[in-house]
Amino acid sequence: MIINVSKLTFTSLLIALLTTVSLAGQLTITQQPWGQLEDGQQVVIYTLTNANGVKARITNFGAHLVSMEVPDRDGKIQDVTLGFDDVEGYVNCDSYLGATVGRYGNRIAKGQFALYGTKYTLAANNGVNHLHGGIKGFNKVLWASKSFLKSDSVGVVLTCLSPDMEEGYPGDLTSVVTYSLDNDNALKIEYEAYTDKPTPINLTHHSYFNLTGDARNTILDHELMLAADHYTPVDETLIPTGEIPVVEGTPMDFRAPEKIGARINDDFQQLKFGLGYDHNWVLRNQSGSLMLAATVYDPQSGRLMEIMTTEPGIQFYAGNFLDGSIIGKNNQPYNYRCGFCLETQHYPDSPNRKDFPSVILHPAQKYTHTCIYRFSVK
Ligand code: GAL
Repeated sequence: MIINVSKLTFTSLLIALLTTVSLAGQLTITQQPWGQLEDGQQVVIYTLTNANGVKARITNFGAHLVSMEVPDRDGKIQDVTLGFDDVEGYVNCDSYLGATVGRYGNRIAKGQFALYGTKYTLAANNGVNHLHGGIKGFNKVLWASKSFLKSDSVGVVLTCLSPDMEEGYPGDLTSVVTYSLDNDNALKIEYEAYTDKPTPINLTHHSYFNLTGDARNTILDHELMLAADHYTPVDETLIPTGEIPVVEGTPMDFRAPEKIGARINDDFQQLKFGLGYDHNWVLRNQSGSLMLAATVYDPQSGRLMEIMTTEPGIQFYAGNFLDGSIIGKNNQPYNYRCGFCLETQHYPDSPNRKDFPSVILHPAQKYTHTCIYRFSVK
């Protein structure tokens, strides 16, 4: 199955001369070669551009979002994501900058779970726990990819086949991720997956955003709103305790917009365990329909990002592990809290929590998940 992926990629590279498709001078997509992996596989990068000059760049290596260029309130277009200038950066990165995360976003306690009486053991790649799909997660594989152009959006469909027991997970799993950009400045990410054996799945997107467009700034002045009345507290290894308390009266309350930095260093046990915000919020919308989950506003640039999702949870991570050791785009060191992630998801450690919404995908079922990052100014 992996061979299939390589073949598809190779075929697409035979026509990997720069190709540009455009519709009415509005939405365009460009495909270019973007280096090669150690095993010789060729990587490509797509540039999606809309009528407003907004650009999203996506590579088939790890299905990463490489950059997202959006205007500020004066019309100045800047990249609002952290990332790298070349594919080597993504090959060597362990912090999931811009990544598609799978099979399971976030942590599974002690890398273990049981399903229909069988015990499965996954890599403990985050202390004693399993994180973001393991040692070689979906962010480290080359996806088959194909671009498309419609009347109202432009995008890329990426497909990855994960064989039975890869990273310890049961079932041949086919995942399809579709990125599309429209003229409303919305980047939509749609996920689909199919399996031939029951298996846990929790795909998510891991861009680090800095809406100032300059990663030398921290994100502490950004104003965050989360459409959540509850969250899932964690233990000191960041595994949910199982409780689902209200956010009211705690620094976890983002029901009304609040600066990320306002309470991040408060003397609150959960913020000590997370070294700041690094938690799953339980979204008010548990219906599976697409609803507003979060907004982030940067008063300096006027940029506003709205996040809509069908998922029941969202991980808000404030870049607490960034320490300047990652050198990103334009040789910029990524310092403490210079980017935040908002990952739409099911709750961490759900395979071990019967009381959390189920993450088990069965044969003949289809996994779906939609997440939209929409950009405007105010
Ligand atoms: C986040 C997670 C953090 C950290 C980060 C990657 O999704 O919540 O704890 O692991 O990914 O560095």
